[in-house]
Amino acid sequence: MRQHHRTPRLLGTLLLVVAAGISVVGAAPAATGVPVPLGQVVPAPLSVEAKGAPYRITGDTRIRVDDSPGARRVGEYLADVLRPSTGYRLPVTTRGGDGIRLRLGSNSARALGDEGYRLDSGRSGVTITARKAAGLFHGVQTLRQLLPAAVEKRSAQPGPWLVAGGTVKDAPRYGYRGAMLDVSRHFFTVAQVERYIDQLALYKINKLHLHLSDDQGWRIAIDSWPRLATHGGSTQVGGGTGGFYTKDQYRRIVRYAASRHLEVVPEIDMPGHTNAALASYAELNCDGVAPELYTGTEVGFSSLCVDKPVTYDFVDDVIRELAALTPGRYLHIGGDEAHSTSHADYVAFMERVQPVVARYGKTVIGWHQLTGATPAKGALAQYWGLDDTSAAEKAQVAKAARNGTGLILSPADRVYLDMKYTADTPLGLDWAGLVEVRRSYDWDPGAYLPGAPASAVRGVEAPLWTETILNSDHIEYMAFPRLPGVAELGWSPAPAHDWDAYKVRLAAQAPRWEALGIDYYRSPQVPWPAP
Ligand code: ACM
Repeated sequence: MRQHHRTPRLLGTLLLVVAAGISVVGAAPAATGVPVPLGQVVPAPLSVEAKGAPYRITGDTRIRVDDSPGARRVGEYLADVLRPSTGYRLPVTTRGGDGIRLRLGSNSARALGDEGYRLDSGRSGVTITARKAAGLFHGVQTLRQLLPAAVEKRSAQPGPWLVAGGTVKDAPRYGYRGAMLDVSRHFFTVAQVERYIDQLALYKINKLHLHLSDDQGWRIAIDSWPRLATHGGSTQVGGGTGGFYTKDQYRRIVRYAASRHLEVVPEIDMPGHTNAALASYAELNCDGVAPELYTGTEVGFSSLCVDKPVTYDFVDDVIRELAALTPGRYLHIGGDEAHSTSHADYVAFMERVQPVVARYGKTVIGWHQLTGATPAKGALAQYWGLDDTSAAEKAQVAKAARNGTGLILSPADRVYLDMKYTADTPLGLDWAGLVEVRRSYDWDPGAYLPGAPASAVRGVEAPLWTETILNSDHIEYMAFPRLPGVAELGWSPAPAHDWDAYKVRLAAQAPRWEALGIDYYRSPQVPWPAP
């Protein structure tokens, strides 16, 4: 064994020396001998006890995993993060020895739940313990943040690679911690979506909601209605060529998300926001005439034809094919801004469509207008109102919550990532107001909606609508630094919520984003480190 890895280790050291010489120019702030403080993590962990000597990752470090595919995959993922920057071999092994240990399923881990973990660090190693692979994965994200920011670079960097000594115990406040990407207003490739998934995983986000259809584009291949994608997906806002995911491409996204312990929540927005579908099939229109494709940014002008039987053939086919692509629990049916559907039609439509979702084994999520109909048993409503949304509308949602409808909170004037930070933000919209970093962080999901029981809140989600968002740079500039704050609202215990402490932990993330090539808004509210 020893003999076996001697040569590569030496080679790693040599590479490191060479790279260290090169990287002096333009390098990130050099790593020092002082480890990142154990609690300097976003989202804030449940509890942190700093104690004892740090662990130092060296050329001898092994990643020791339990003999299970889930633990091994997390170990390989960690190795992929650490190898390029450390230059070390970091074998992933089920054998003994010092190093980084990933342990599954011990009795003492029971209290950590499905996503929690415990991280113990000391002179002889770092051990992450969890009940499930998801917990190990989240623990690995914490470990990344405890290492110098240069660990995120893809070329060899000078260490030392110290992890502060002590214990982190951690588990999420909410099971639903989401981000939404609108791939309809502008289309994003599989690679662009995967890049965002990697960024979401850094902050323990566990749901990727894909807004797959809207007036401007239908983005998922449906075999029984092929023109939805080939015609309905052929343009986007501003008139570009748009695009759509083949089923294989979509499966790739779902698999990639699963490899980062995210569940994909697909949305087909109905009965409004359907111009792309209506343009693709004349028979879906009440007057039998297909409208032109739409490349503007108005909302509320389209509706499926609630009275036509073919509408429900269409809905059944789409939901059946989409459910078959979806290992996750949820299927989002939209339901917002149906301004061209009468209230009676809206209620009738939701009465017929929600059971279809159940028939194909999925749980309904709808935008909170669904509470104006009768949400199905077990359905979740996604609240996207504002502070000044009418009391009557809030009361309608709160009443549904008291009657058992779960809530996902996405208040638009807090967590819509497409809202401008300030009047000068070059991207984004401002219909919900300007949303600086503090505003997006400084609210409590558990106490947000008057009259809704805290127990109804299943979590939070940060949507990113893409009328003005064209590429990954744009996504990142709007998501960073607000996204990590939403992630903290979803993960960290309520007593950890404190802007003044958070902004310091947030500032410490900036060198990581720079190492990862993530552009971000340098909000004056955050004490960023000097460049
Ligand atoms: C929405 O922003 N129309 C959900």
